[in-house]
Amino acid sequence: MLMWHWFKQKKSSIDLSFLKIDVHSHLLPDLDDGVKTFDESINLIKKFEDAGFTKLITSPHVHELYRNTAQNILSRFEETKLKLKEAGITLDLQTAAEYNVDDWFLNQFNNNEVLLTFAEKYLLFETNFFAEPLILNDLIFKLKTKGFTPVMAHPERYFYLQKQIARLEDLQQRGVYFQLNLVSLAGAYGPVAEKTARELIDRNMIQLVGSDCHNDLQFELLKKASKHKYFEKVMALPLLNFTI
Ligand SMILES: [Fe+2]
Repeated sequence: MLMWHWFKQKKSSIDLSFLKIDVHSHLLPDLDDGVKTFDESINLIKKFEDAGFTKLITSPHVHELYRNTAQNILSRFEETKLKLKEAGITLDLQTAAEYNVDDWFLNQFNNNEVLLTFAEKYLLFETNFFAEPLILNDLIFKLKTKGFTPVMAHPERYFYLQKQIARLEDLQQRGVYFQLNLVSLAGAYGPVAEKTARELIDRNMIQLVGSDCHNDLQFELLKKASKHKYFEKVMALPLLNFTI
């Protein structure tokens, strides 16, 4: 009896409903290093729904390693939506993508192929973690010129940006929005990423937050992050999550 009571309490304590909208995850099956099967996808999306999320904008990698295009992502997205319906899940699933700055993406961009964005043509992008791509400023300018709003995924994770506040500020001045990974606050990527995350929050430099959830383990970390003292602080920022 006591055990059941404890279990029930523990289960109901998962409440991320104040966030409601997630903008970064890998929940479409077998497209990248995220979920592998429809069953995994449905189970994980159900966890988001149970935790109070009402909308998930998922974002499969478009990357030299995961050669996705708008077409194959949209096709897997439609299949997943059908499975969600069959499972009785009413949460609003949408898809964008996470574009890695590499030749696979640049060819699509330069050839004016369809790119998957969310809200006001927000384009989520990432770079390699070690060295800033030489073309980054030029790409930002071109994206803006074409009417996209570049959103840098997890700026706190790039070694070349950590402790580089001047460059981070410069990117924002060029029109880049920052999307923080909430699990950075739970130490998911080490102490330096966690510190950088706190600094970006303190300086009001975060416009969007996301889970970047690939699997069950990362969903557990999201719950851990929601107990971090900086979680309340980030939620008090004028996040665009609440407007899309
Ligand atoms: Fe991601």
